Amino acid sequence: MASAFMALLVLQLLQQVNARHSYEAEGGSRCDLYEGRWVFDDLHPLYDSTHCPFIENIFNCQKNGRPDKLYQQYRWQPSACNLPRFSAEDFLQRFKDKRIMFIGDSLGLNQWQSLACMLHTAMPHSEFTIEIPPLKYTTERTLSTFTFPQYNVSVMFARNVFLVDIEKEGSWQVLKLNSVQDTEVWEGMDVLIFNTWHWFIHTGNIQPWDFIQDGENTYRDMNRYVAFEQALETWARWVDKTIDPSKTKVFFQGISPTHFNASLWGFHEGKNCSREMRPLPEPPRFSNPAEVIVEKVLQSMSKPVHLLNITKLSQQRTDAHPSVYGYGAQNGMDCSHWCLAGVPDAWNELLYAELIRN
Ligand SMILES: *[C@@H]1O[C@H](CO)[C@@H](O)[C@H](O)[C@H]1NC(C)=O
Ligand SMILES: *[C@@H]1O[C@H](CO)[C@@H](O)[C@H](O)[C@H]1NC(C)=O
Ligand SMILES: *[C@@H]1O[C@H](CO)[C@@H](O)[C@H](O)[C@H]1NC(C)=O
Ligand SMILES: *[C@@H]1O[C@H](CO)[C@@H](O)[C@H](O)[C@H]1NC(C)=O
Repeated sequence: MASAFMALLVLQLLQQVNARHSYEAEGGSRCDLYEGRWVFDDLHPLYDSTHCPFIENIFNCQKNGRPDKLYQQYRWQPSACNLPRFSAEDFLQRFKDKRIMFIGDSLGLNQWQSLACMLHTAMPHSEFTIEIPPLKYTTERTLSTFTFPQYNVSVMFARNVFLVDIEKEGSWQVLKLNSVQDTEVWEGMDVLIFNTWHWFIHTGNIQPWDFIQDGENTYRDMNRYVAFEQALETWARWVDKTIDPSKTKVFFQGISPTHFNASLWGFHEGKNCSREMRPLPEPPRFSNPAEVIVEKVLQSMSKPVHLLNITKLSQQRTDAHPSVYGYGAQNGMDCSHWCLAGVPDAWNELLYAELIRN
């Protein structure tokens, strides 16, 4: 009797261990979740975009008339292990009474909306509230919140395109590479997922600053990689000084690749991604120096910040941008954001795996 009970207990323990380690590589070594391939999968997409009522127009490719759908059906398969299957219910149970916040630019918004759709669509009978301020092409800071009151879980997006400050001084906009203020909104969170980069390369009409300051000096312009690195270092000092790792898990969303220059992957000429219908079989060979800067700054930090290393795997997804089905053909070609459902869902499946991995 007692031994049967013990056997059952051991079996249950083993099952728990198995469930917990199901995405660890054979032999128990830690699996690199980001080394793998895209596979076609009947169980994807995780939601039907027409059943997710709050997708921004810029990501809502099917509604905007994109004729093909296959790009929604790929899932990321790590080479050495399997990802846990996303479960909205498990997610909400685990994060009961918790606050999760994405902070950054529209690529952060892209991932936040994806997660909100993944949760909402899987729990259609749960009450939820959502607040999304109008999307503007300015550096304005806004807060979007998505809440399941029943679970007391909030998933938020704080728009903050540089992470460092940009302020009006007289009639000039000044980008301050050594200053991070108004961070109250980030404080007290259980999970923070930061991102920035794309606004550092804006020029001409869409460059939001008149001057850049690095503490001592003021410049009209400077090397954008240098500016990015200094800003990231300022942000890193804030994290190192402020974050209590026992309370808050910090992630950085790796550089999201753009696909404006088709000759870089060689299928056709043209400065657009409009003919792409399949993922590339391998990541193209080009890389972005900003990736190296992110890795370098994260490595120099004293607090643990986890890189959500989505750059290479997303580089293969030339097929998954809105192209003319985002802003709409009248406003040009978008090979920077991602259609929803789509690639950011895979980023969130990876985030989920990282969060439940111990
Ligand atoms: C990110 O993932 C890619 C692909 O697996 C890998 O080559 C690269 O070294 C990773 N970067 C980091 C910092 O882990
Ligand atoms: C909801 O969660 C927050 C912490 O995120 C907590 O302060 C608050 O008391 C919780 N509310 C309820 C009704 O449990
Ligand atoms: C696109 O890539 C090709 C090949 O590297 C390069 O020669 C060309 O200058 C690039 N075009 C633009 C507009 O960046
Ligand atoms: C995209 O590039 C192709 C050439 O590959 C061209 O035929 C097409 O007109 C371009 N579309 C737009 C909207 O620029």
